[in-house]
Amino acid sequence: MRIADFALERFFARWEFAVEHLLCASDVEGWPMAELLARADPEARALWDGLRLGYTESLGHPLLRAEIAGLYETAAPDDVLVFAGAEEAIYVLAHALLGPGDHAIVAWPAYQSLFEVARSAGADVTLLELHESDGWRLDPEAVRRELRPETRVVVVNAPHNPTGMLPSREDWRDLARVCADAGVHLVSDEVYRYLEADPSDRLTAGCDALDRGISIGVMSKSFAMAGLRIGWIATRDRTVIDRCARLKDYTSICASAPSEILALVGLRARATVLERSRAIVAGNRALFAELIAGSGGRFAWAPPRGGSIAFPRLDAEEPIDAFAAALVEEEGVLIAPGSVFGHPGNHFRVGFGRDGFAAGLARLEAFARKRYG
Ligand SMILES: Cc1ncc(COP(=O)(O)O)c(C=O)c1O
Repeated sequence: MRIADFALERFFARWEFAVEHLLCASDVEGWPMAELLARADPEARALWDGLRLGYTESLGHPLLRAEIAGLYETAAPDDVLVFAGAEEAIYVLAHALLGPGDHAIVAWPAYQSLFEVARSAGADVTLLELHESDGWRLDPEAVRRELRPETRVVVVNAPHNPTGMLPSREDWRDLARVCADAGVHLVSDEVYRYLEADPSDRLTAGCDALDRGISIGVMSKSFAMAGLRIGWIATRDRTVIDRCARLKDYTSICASAPSEILALVGLRARATVLERSRAIVAGNRALFAELIAGSGGRFAWAPPRGGSIAFPRLDAEEPIDAFAAALVEEEGVLIAPGSVFGHPGNHFRVGFGRDGFAAGLARLEAFARKRYG
């Protein structure tokens, strides 16, 4: 198989565990396992205490699938397939839905695997560009214009990485209609769901919005448990579940036994888990908004409406790559320049999910002041 390097992941492989201030992570500060286990109900605690480290059910633990189905309005446990993270779900889905001769439309900029795996599976991919000037809007009519007879999937991610864009309810409903009318699958990457800045803006999940809607979820972001490597798809299209299950036999076969139980505990405790994540993200997002407001135009953004990240812009002659390189070398503060998304211009990604954000931000602010006055 030939596939381009995943630029963002290569970037993190170099820096993530080497810097003092990680200001561009997309996950939320991970839960301490002991604290999580303390929240287990008696049934889950008994599963944990009696756990044997054998293979697990290929589709996912039945209780976990039921708990995940409960996140959606229309999904039954059999509409859920558990994966090793959202990343495996994306990989397997692309291979299940696409091949040579097929066409995919993917909103861009994007988490790279959302289009790169489709390409490597042989599909022709149209990157539908979003623009800061209209708040990174995902325009359903623009999607409709790109449809071809051989289009099989439309791939979107909302709340969006890297911009924090969240479609309006109207645009989301229209997009579902465009996909339903065309008979194509809507792959909806919802790993940042529940981190909407205003919870009343939360959208209907993709799997609930149309028969061919496929929601991708994960424990890593809003549920703050990236180390579990538990993700899933939910869709009422059972042929998709079946095709993905057959491909998963060639990737992970089944999920990690301890992780499945811990994910079950985390999902059952989701009111507390999500409250913690939302508080961390909201606090850090507000700090960054203050930096923007006080920067005299040096930094600008289309304010994120959801997720744990944003894609602000440095307004300076200096390219963002040079600024980011100096910032990490001199201050140990990591931001992700737009180039790791293949994006031109002077944008960079910041992430609001981690503890210690304020300290890193103060360094960034002082560094920019020193550099530009
Ligand atoms: C939009 C999006 N989808 C999927 C993933 C993959 O999630 P995971 O690493 O937990 O598998 C990420 C991770 O950053 C992401 O941002």
